[in-house]
Amino acid sequence: MASIKIECVVKDKSRIGESPVWEEKHGCLVYVDITGQKVCCWNAATKQVKTVHVDAPVGSVVPRRSGGYVLAVGKRFAFLDFEKETVTDIALVDQDKANNRFNDGKVDPAGRFFAGTMAIETRPAEVERQQGSLYALQSDHSVVKHFDQVNISNGLDWSLDHKTFYYIDSLSFAVDAFDYDLHSGKISNRRLMYKLEQAEAIPDGQCIDAEGKLWVACYKGGRVLRIDPETGKRIQTVKLPVDMTTSCCFGGKDYSELYVTSAVDGMDEEWKQRQPQAGGIFKITGLGVKGIPPYSYAG
Ligand code: BGC
Ligand code: CA
Repeated sequence: MASIKIECVVKDKSRIGESPVWEEKHGCLVYVDITGQKVCCWNAATKQVKTVHVDAPVGSVVPRRSGGYVLAVGKRFAFLDFEKETVTDIALVDQDKANNRFNDGKVDPAGRFFAGTMAIETRPAEVERQQGSLYALQSDHSVVKHFDQVNISNGLDWSLDHKTFYYIDSLSFAVDAFDYDLHSGKISNRRLMYKLEQAEAIPDGQCIDAEGKLWVACYKGGRVLRIDPETGKRIQTVKLPVDMTTSCCFGGKDYSELYVTSAVDGMDEEWKQRQPQAGGIFKITGLGVKGIPPYSYAG
């Protein structure tokens, strides 16, 4: 087996880099800088980053089948035309919660855009609890609320047979599983799948690989974990040279590379000097496992 190699490929610093998604068509990694209020596109061939600035913290970005992207930005779902740099609102959420914003999101295998909210933090990972909810933007542009009482709505993905939904509320320090009905988009039967150990810190973004195992980025833990949902056991840990690892996705040729985003928000000067790559994006190769292509929003 080839040995694991970790390379910082995007040196531009994101305040909170998140929501990476591979765009096969253009050979690009698209991601957001949440508090930096940016949507970025890194071209793997040219190494150039193109940036669009938005008017509110942007929790996640996903591709749209008909072209362009969909954002979970502020408390809105919105379309983004990256070339024209225009944002068009689709729907509003959490209208009774002045201090909320969207966080992580992903498209399900049927084309619905799931994304959750949280209260704006007083300090990294410190929030007024239970203010968030999990929503799904349906293909007809209506919004379904799946549940509330969330602390920090975070990483999500679906099993390869589409029958299980995996979800992280960061402050539960766990990855949960739900039964998933792909036809209706309904979730049920919440249970604990994996509880993080102390050194693994705070679970953040996650993605599934082509063998049905989950990769979880550990915020403040400086690592990604590979977890077997069948057994609820961790089967691999890959450490990174920065502590604030936030999310991950597979990309590159045949989805054989794992891209990991990171943050600098919340680090003091001494910490930043010790970890000069904080806020960058890392490419991990030699894992010997591939990912699957992302789904695109159907509406
Ligand atoms: C949020 C951050 C938060 C982190 C750790 C991220 O998804 O956007 O604001 O500090 O998770 O929970
Ligand atoms: Ca996140």
